[in-house]
Amino acid sequence: MSKNQSITILGVFVADTTYRADRSPRMGETILGNSFALGPGGKGSNQAVAAARIGGDVTIVTRLGDDAFADMAERTWQEAGVKSAARRDPANYTGAAYIFVEESSGDNAIIICPGAAGDISVADIETNAGLLRASKVFVTQLEQPLAAAERGLLMAKEAGVTTILNPAPAPKQPLNKSTLKLCDYITPNETETQEITGLPVVTVEEARTAANRLLEMGVGTAVITLGGQGALLHSRKVSVHVPAISAGKVVETTGAGDAFNGGLAVGLARGLDPIDAVKLGCATAGISVTRPGAAASMPGQFEVEALLVSV
Ligand code: RIB
Repeated sequence: MSKNQSITILGVFVADTTYRADRSPRMGETILGNSFALGPGGKGSNQAVAAARIGGDVTIVTRLGDDAFADMAERTWQEAGVKSAARRDPANYTGAAYIFVEESSGDNAIIICPGAAGDISVADIETNAGLLRASKVFVTQLEQPLAAAERGLLMAKEAGVTTILNPAPAPKQPLNKSTLKLCDYITPNETETQEITGLPVVTVEEARTAANRLLEMGVGTAVITLGGQGALLHSRKVSVHVPAISAGKVVETTGAGDAFNGGLAVGLARGLDPIDAVKLGCATAGISVTRPGAAASMPGQFEVEALLVSV
Protein backbone atom coordinates (compact mmCIF):
# COMPACT_ATOMS: atom_id res chain seq x y z
CA MET A 1 0.00 0.00 0.00
CA SER A 2 1.48 3.39 -0.93
CA LYS A 3 1.46 6.41 1.40
CA ASN A 4 -1.32 8.89 0.66
CA GLN A 5 -3.33 11.33 2.77
CA SER A 6 -5.24 8.61 4.57
CA ILE A 7 -6.09 8.68 8.25
CA THR A 8 -6.48 5.60 10.45
CA ILE A 9 -8.44 6.08 13.66
CA LEU A 10 -8.35 3.52 16.45
CA GLY A 11 -11.23 4.09 18.84
CA VAL A 12 -14.67 3.40 20.14
CA PHE A 13 -18.23 3.71 18.85
CA VAL A 14 -21.04 3.88 21.38
CA ALA A 15 -24.70 4.85 21.17
CA ASP A 16 -25.16 8.14 23.02
CA THR A 17 -28.28 8.44 25.16
CA THR A 18 -28.52 12.16 25.81
CA TYR A 19 -30.70 13.72 28.50
CA ARG A 20 -31.14 17.50 28.59
CA ALA A 21 -32.15 18.86 31.99
CA ASP A 22 -31.78 22.04 34.05
CA ARG A 23 -29.39 20.25 36.39
CA SER A 24 -27.97 16.82 37.18
CA PRO A 25 -29.96 14.72 39.71
CA ARG A 26 -28.46 14.19 43.17
CA MET A 27 -27.93 10.62 44.41
CA GLY A 28 -31.32 9.07 45.31
CA GLU A 29 -33.25 11.82 43.50
CA THR A 30 -35.39 11.66 40.34
CA ILE A 31 -35.92 14.81 38.30
CA LEU A 32 -37.87 15.55 35.14
CA GLY A 33 -35.69 16.18 32.11
CA ASN A 34 -36.46 18.44 29.14
CA SER A 35 -35.63 16.11 26.22
CA PHE A 36 -34.00 12.84 25.20
CA ALA A 37 -32.07 11.79 22.09
CA LEU A 38 -30.41 8.57 20.94
CA GLY A 39 -27.58 8.96 18.44
CA PRO A 40 -24.10 7.90 17.35
CA GLY A 41 -21.18 8.73 19.64
CA GLY A 42 -17.88 7.43 20.98
CA LYS A 43 -14.76 9.55 20.66
CA GLY A 44 -12.99 7.53 17.97
CA SER A 45 -16.10 7.24 15.84
CA ASN A 46 -16.96 10.94 16.28
CA GLN A 47 -13.44 11.89 15.21
CA ALA A 48 -13.69 9.62 12.18
CA VAL A 49 -17.04 11.14 11.17
CA ALA A 50 -15.72 14.69 11.69
CA ALA A 51 -12.65 14.00 9.54
CA ALA A 52 -14.56 12.24 6.76
CA ARG A 53 -17.29 14.92 6.57
CA ILE A 54 -14.65 17.55 5.82
CA GLY A 55 -13.06 15.44 3.10
CA GLY A 56 -10.63 13.14 4.93
CA ASP A 57 -9.90 9.62 3.70
CA VAL A 58 -10.64 7.83 6.99
CA THR A 59 -10.76 4.24 8.23
CA ILE A 60 -11.87 3.30 11.74
CA VAL A 61 -10.43 0.30 13.56
CA THR A 62 -12.71 -0.86 16.36
CA ARG A 63 -14.93 -3.63 17.71
CA LEU A 64 -18.73 -3.72 17.78
CA GLY A 65 -21.26 -6.18 19.13
CA ASP A 66 -23.74 -7.72 16.71
CA ASP A 67 -26.85 -5.73 17.53
CA ALA A 68 -28.94 -2.68 16.64
CA PHE A 69 -26.29 -0.23 17.96
CA ALA A 70 -23.68 -1.90 15.71
CA ASP A 71 -26.02 -1.32 12.76
CA MET A 72 -26.28 2.32 13.85
CA ALA A 73 -22.46 2.53 13.77
CA GLU A 74 -22.15 1.08 10.27
CA ARG A 75 -24.97 3.34 8.99
CA THR A 76 -23.32 6.41 10.52
CA TRP A 77 -19.95 5.63 8.92
CA GLN A 78 -21.51 4.85 5.55
CA GLU A 79 -23.37 8.18 5.52
CA ALA A 80 -20.24 10.11 6.51
CA GLY A 81 -17.91 8.23 4.14
CA VAL A 82 -15.85 6.53 6.87
CA LYS A 83 -14.37 3.16 5.86
CA SER A 84 -14.94 0.46 8.45
CA ALA A 85 -12.32 -1.97 9.73
CA ALA A 86 -14.64 -2.94 12.58
CA ARG A 87 -14.78 -6.47 13.88
CA ARG A 88 -18.16 -7.71 15.09
CA ASP A 89 -18.17 -9.75 18.29
CA PRO A 90 -21.52 -11.56 18.69
CA ALA A 91 -20.62 -12.52 22.27
CA ASN A 92 -20.57 -8.89 23.44
CA TYR A 93 -22.75 -5.77 23.16
CA THR A 94 -22.05 -2.51 21.35
CA GLY A 95 -21.31 0.17 23.93
CA ALA A 96 -23.49 3.03 25.11
CA ALA A 97 -23.00 6.34 26.87
CA TYR A 98 -25.17 8.28 29.33
CA ILE A 99 -24.85 12.00 28.60
CA PHE A 100 -26.32 14.69 30.82
CA VAL A 101 -26.48 18.05 29.02
CA GLU A 102 -27.07 21.11 31.17
CA GLU A 103 -29.79 23.14 29.45
CA SER A 104 -28.41 26.61 30.23
CA SER A 105 -24.80 26.06 29.09
CA GLY A 106 -24.90 23.07 26.72
CA ASP A 107 -22.07 21.53 28.79
CA ASN A 108 -22.12 17.81 29.54
CA ALA A 109 -21.18 15.03 31.95
CA ILE A 110 -20.71 11.54 30.53
CA ILE A 111 -20.54 7.89 31.58
CA ILE A 112 -19.40 5.51 28.84
CA CYS A 113 -19.51 1.70 28.77
CA PRO A 114 -17.47 0.63 25.72
CA GLY A 115 -18.93 -2.92 25.52
CA ALA A 116 -17.23 -4.93 22.75
CA ALA A 117 -14.77 -2.06 22.12
CA GLY A 118 -13.45 -2.63 25.63
CA ASP A 119 -11.88 -5.82 24.25
CA ILE A 120 -9.93 -4.10 21.46
CA SER A 121 -6.51 -5.71 21.66
CA VAL A 122 -2.98 -5.59 20.31
CA ALA A 123 -4.08 -8.36 17.91
CA ASP A 124 -6.59 -5.94 16.33
CA ILE A 125 -3.69 -3.59 15.57
CA GLU A 126 -1.60 -6.41 14.08
CA THR A 127 -4.56 -7.41 11.87
CA ASN A 128 -4.70 -3.87 10.49
CA ALA A 129 -0.94 -3.32 10.28
CA GLY A 130 -0.91 -2.79 6.48
CA LEU A 131 -3.62 -0.14 6.68
CA LEU A 132 -2.01 1.63 9.60
CA ARG A 133 1.52 1.68 8.16
CA ALA A 134 0.28 3.10 4.84
CA SER A 135 -1.55 6.00 6.55
CA LYS A 136 -0.40 9.59 6.69
CA VAL A 137 -1.92 10.13 10.14
CA PHE A 138 -2.84 7.78 12.99
CA VAL A 139 -5.22 8.97 15.72
CA THR A 140 -6.28 7.30 18.94
CA GLN A 141 -7.86 8.12 22.31
CA LEU A 142 -8.13 6.33 25.66
CA GLU A 143 -11.65 4.85 25.60
CA GLN A 144 -10.31 1.45 24.46
CA PRO A 145 -7.57 -0.47 26.32
CA LEU A 146 -4.29 1.42 26.57
CA ALA A 147 -2.24 -1.55 25.30
CA ALA A 148 -3.93 -1.31 21.90
CA ALA A 149 -3.40 2.45 21.72
CA GLU A 150 0.28 2.01 22.61
CA ARG A 151 0.79 -0.70 19.98
CA GLY A 152 -0.90 1.49 17.36
CA LEU A 153 1.24 4.50 18.27
CA LEU A 154 4.45 2.44 18.18
CA MET A 155 3.59 0.81 14.86
CA ALA A 156 2.67 4.17 13.34
CA LYS A 157 5.75 5.94 14.67
CA GLU A 158 8.09 3.22 13.35
CA ALA A 159 6.45 3.53 9.91
CA GLY A 160 6.85 7.33 9.81
CA VAL A 161 3.10 7.95 10.21
CA THR A 162 2.19 11.16 12.07
CA THR A 163 0.68 10.21 15.43
CA ILE A 164 -2.01 12.02 17.42
CA LEU A 165 -3.02 10.91 20.91
CA ASN A 166 -6.21 12.49 22.23
CA PRO A 167 -5.82 11.44 25.91
CA ALA A 168 -9.55 11.32 26.60
CA PRO A 169 -10.94 10.32 28.96
CA ALA A 170 -8.08 11.36 31.25
CA PRO A 171 -5.87 8.32 31.94
CA LYS A 172 -6.45 6.50 35.26
CA GLN A 173 -2.74 5.70 35.58
CA PRO A 174 0.03 8.15 34.63
CA LEU A 175 1.03 7.68 30.98
CA ASN A 176 4.53 6.22 30.57
CA LYS A 177 7.26 8.42 29.16
CA SER A 178 7.80 5.72 26.51
CA THR A 179 4.16 6.18 25.39
CA LEU A 180 4.35 9.97 25.37
CA LYS A 181 7.50 9.80 23.22
CA LEU A 182 5.43 8.06 20.53
CA CYS A 183 3.09 11.07 20.25
CA ASP A 184 3.93 13.57 17.52
CA TYR A 185 0.87 15.44 18.79
CA ILE A 186 -1.03 15.17 22.06
CA THR A 187 -4.41 16.92 22.26
CA PRO A 188 -5.70 17.09 25.85
CA ASN A 189 -8.33 19.56 27.07
CA GLU A 190 -7.75 21.59 30.24
CA THR A 191 -8.81 18.81 32.64
CA GLU A 192 -6.82 16.11 30.87
CA THR A 193 -3.74 18.37 30.78
CA GLN A 194 -4.09 18.92 34.50
CA GLU A 195 -4.41 15.16 35.14
CA ILE A 196 -1.34 14.35 33.03
CA THR A 197 0.97 17.18 34.15
CA GLY A 198 -0.35 17.92 37.65
CA LEU A 199 -0.43 21.62 36.69
CA PRO A 200 -3.52 23.86 36.76
CA VAL A 201 -4.84 24.96 33.35
CA VAL A 202 -7.35 27.78 33.18
CA THR A 203 -5.55 30.56 31.32
CA VAL A 204 -3.57 30.44 28.08
CA GLU A 205 -0.37 31.19 30.00
CA GLU A 206 -1.03 28.27 32.36
CA ALA A 207 -1.62 26.09 29.30
CA ARG A 208 1.76 27.18 27.94
CA THR A 209 3.48 26.18 31.18
CA ALA A 210 1.70 22.80 31.15
CA ALA A 211 2.54 22.35 27.46
CA ASN A 212 6.23 22.83 28.29
CA ARG A 213 5.85 20.09 30.88
CA LEU A 214 4.30 17.81 28.22
CA LEU A 215 7.31 18.43 25.96
CA GLU A 216 9.63 17.56 28.88
CA MET A 217 7.60 14.37 29.31
CA GLY A 218 8.43 13.40 25.72
CA VAL A 219 5.66 14.54 23.33
CA GLY A 220 6.56 16.21 20.05
CA THR A 221 3.90 18.94 20.02
CA ALA A 222 1.18 19.74 22.56
CA VAL A 223 -2.14 21.05 21.30
CA ILE A 224 -4.16 21.94 24.38
CA THR A 225 -7.83 22.62 23.70
CA LEU A 226 -9.27 25.39 25.85
CA GLY A 227 -13.01 25.37 25.12
CA GLY A 228 -14.22 28.91 24.44
CA GLN A 229 -10.62 30.16 24.50
CA GLY A 230 -9.60 28.07 21.46
CA ALA A 231 -6.40 26.03 21.46
CA LEU A 232 -2.70 26.38 22.18
CA LEU A 233 -0.22 24.85 19.72
CA HIS A 234 3.10 24.44 21.50
CA SER A 235 6.30 22.80 20.29
CA ARG A 236 10.02 23.46 20.63
CA LYS A 237 9.81 25.66 17.51
CA VAL A 238 6.51 27.47 17.88
CA SER A 239 3.95 28.50 20.52
CA VAL A 240 0.74 29.96 19.12
CA HIS A 241 -2.62 30.59 20.75
CA VAL A 242 -5.38 30.07 18.17
CA PRO A 243 -8.61 31.71 19.41
CA ALA A 244 -11.91 29.81 19.19
CA ILE A 245 -13.84 30.34 15.97
CA SER A 246 -17.48 31.03 16.74
CA ALA A 247 -20.21 29.97 14.34
CA GLY A 248 -23.15 31.00 16.55
CA LYS A 249 -24.87 30.19 19.85
CA VAL A 250 -23.58 27.15 21.75
CA VAL A 251 -26.29 24.47 21.89
CA GLU A 252 -24.28 21.42 23.02
CA THR A 253 -20.56 20.87 23.53
CA THR A 254 -20.65 17.03 23.32
CA GLY A 255 -18.16 15.97 20.65
CA ALA A 256 -16.51 19.40 20.33
CA GLY A 257 -13.10 17.92 21.17
CA ASP A 258 -13.72 15.16 18.64
CA ALA A 259 -14.63 17.71 15.96
CA PHE A 260 -11.36 19.49 16.76
CA ASN A 261 -9.29 16.29 16.52
CA GLY A 262 -10.98 15.31 13.24
CA GLY A 263 -10.17 18.72 11.75
CA LEU A 264 -6.59 18.65 13.04
CA ALA A 265 -6.04 15.16 11.58
CA VAL A 266 -7.34 16.21 8.15
CA GLY A 267 -5.18 19.33 8.19
CA LEU A 268 -2.04 17.33 9.03
CA ALA A 269 -2.92 14.62 6.49
CA ARG A 270 -3.20 17.33 3.82
CA GLY A 271 0.24 18.62 4.77
CA LEU A 272 -1.01 21.97 6.11
CA ASP A 273 1.15 24.02 8.42
CA PRO A 274 0.29 22.85 11.98
CA ILE A 275 -1.14 26.31 12.81
CA ASP A 276 -3.56 26.02 9.87
CA ALA A 277 -4.40 22.44 10.90
CA VAL A 278 -5.30 23.75 14.38
CA LYS A 279 -7.45 26.47 12.78
CA LEU A 280 -9.25 23.77 10.78
CA GLY A 281 -9.86 21.94 14.06
CA CYS A 282 -11.18 25.12 15.72
CA ALA A 283 -13.56 25.84 12.82
CA THR A 284 -14.87 22.26 12.80
CA ALA A 285 -15.47 22.42 16.57
CA GLY A 286 -16.93 25.94 16.31
CA ILE A 287 -19.72 24.69 14.06
CA SER A 288 -20.27 21.40 15.92
CA VAL A 289 -21.18 23.15 19.18
CA THR A 290 -24.02 25.06 17.49
CA ARG A 291 -25.86 21.74 16.95
CA PRO A 292 -27.16 18.96 19.18
CA GLY A 293 -25.60 15.51 19.26
CA ALA A 294 -22.04 14.24 18.83
CA ALA A 295 -21.47 12.62 15.41
CA ALA A 296 -24.69 14.26 14.21
CA SER A 297 -23.23 17.72 14.87
CA MET A 298 -20.18 17.36 12.62
CA PRO A 299 -20.14 19.92 9.79
CA GLY A 300 -19.44 19.38 6.09
CA GLN A 301 -16.39 20.60 4.18
CA PHE A 302 -18.05 23.63 2.54
CA GLU A 303 -19.45 24.93 5.82
CA VAL A 304 -16.02 24.75 7.46
CA GLU A 305 -14.31 26.39 4.49
CA ALA A 306 -16.93 29.16 4.46
CA LEU A 307 -16.40 29.80 8.19
CA LEU A 308 -12.62 29.91 7.78
CA VAL A 309 -12.75 32.53 5.01
CA SER A 310 -15.17 34.64 7.08
CA VAL A 311 -12.75 35.06 10.03
O1 RIB B 1 -16.46 13.16 23.16
C1 RIB B 1 -17.83 12.95 23.24
C2 RIB B 1 -18.11 11.49 23.30
O2 RIB B 1 -17.59 10.98 24.52
C3 RIB B 1 -19.57 11.15 23.32
O3 RIB B 1 -20.09 10.93 22.03
C4 RIB B 1 -19.63 9.91 24.21
O4 RIB B 1 -19.99 8.78 23.53
C5 RIB B 1 -18.23 9.77 24.81
O5 RIB B 1 -17.52 8.78 24.21
